[in-house]
Amino acid sequence: MVRTEYYKDLTKMNTFGMKVKARCFIEYDSVADLVDIEFEELARPVLHIGGGSNLLFTDDFKGTVLHSKINFIEILEKEEPRHCEEQDDVVQSTKSLEQSERIPSPVLVSVGAGVVFDEFCDWAAKEGLWGVENLSYIPGEVGASAVQNIGAYGVEVKDVIRKVYCYDTVDEEFVNFDVEDLEYGYRDSAFKDPEVKGRYIVTHVVFALSREPQPRLDYAHLKEAVGDNVTPLQIRKTIIKIRKEKLPEPSVMGSAGSFFKNPVISAEHFARIEAAAKAEHGADVKVPHYDLPDGTVKIPAAWMIEQCGWKGKRSGGAAVYDKQPLVIVNYTGEAYPEEIIGLERRIIASVKSKFDIVLHPEVDHI
Ligand code: EPU
Repeated sequence: MVRTEYYKDLTKMNTFGMKVKARCFIEYDSVADLVDIEFEELARPVLHIGGGSNLLFTDDFKGTVLHSKINFIEILEKEEPRHCEEQDDVVQSTKSLEQSERIPSPVLVSVGAGVVFDEFCDWAAKEGLWGVENLSYIPGEVGASAVQNIGAYGVEVKDVIRKVYCYDTVDEEFVNFDVEDLEYGYRDSAFKDPEVKGRYIVTHVVFALSREPQPRLDYAHLKEAVGDNVTPLQIRKTIIKIRKEKLPEPSVMGSAGSFFKNPVISAEHFARIEAAAKAEHGADVKVPHYDLPDGTVKIPAAWMIEQCGWKGKRSGGAAVYDKQPLVIVNYTGEAYPEEIIGLERRIIASVKSKFDIVLHPEVDHI
């Protein structure tokens, strides 16, 4: 079924809690419903939202907001186990198929775009399926996760996506993309390319999960925090505990999670920042960073924002979250978009002046 509402209040549909309205709001329940929507006729611009957890409405929305309620989780037929093919004929002849290295067969799961991502994580953990436990408690829905390439604790959703099924609103047909064709990067995908942005509506995503243990516990102190009981459910519980300690609960205080992306800089630039930090705070100071395989360095924006003195600072109804300065919060619940944007601009200016780095928002400004 397709439901249409006019001048719809979106306060509860964006986790920042901005009090804005959409001129037209359309919600639909099934993949087939999409064919009934006359995309040509819709008030423009058209914006498809998921959980509204990664956007900042800067004003009332003059066009049409779409939202999917496609809600299903379905295990597809399990793939046959695959085996490593030996390249060398001689070796192969002396090795039986049983002896050759067995690649665990994935369990393919099809999930509707409107499923809350964490409900999918909860379902997978309870089924004993590995793959999305590290992504537990990230706000948002499955369709948006495939567009944004959500990530946390050493895992990105692209690592477990096999295929993304969409409706092409231009050619009015159903299409699907293999993960390899989606140009996934850090919080980025081909869906965000300005040329096609908004053209494809994700209907469902096929994930490749696993029954074989595949714990990924390299991130910071995750291994110690999880302890000896290494199951998807235990990892999920640990991640939820860590996230609750560091990040604001959207139902209590509005935010869009990380407001900025973590920047990547050259090794020389990092060396300059490290030298300046040692000069300022003493030779023992450690500047947090991750060395990337191509020789560049990823530096946590949270650290730089804290160094600039922004942690816990308030500005009108908005504030920099005191436990994780990468997050801007709607502190009073009454913050105006201008107050959030004002804080954003001032943070960008101080980080630029102190570190010569321009922070880029992760959050979409609408
Ligand atoms: N840090 C500080 N001060 C703080 C907090 C953090 O200096 O108050 C420094 C510390 O050195 C810490 C480092 O920042 O080690 C990294 O912090 P954290 O592990 O919390 O991760 P992050 O880089 O700040 C990213 C994601 C989060 C994700 C976490 C965990 C981005 C933009 N954000 O944050 O994702 O949960 O890693 O994997 O990549 C989101 O996208 O909305 C989000 C919350």
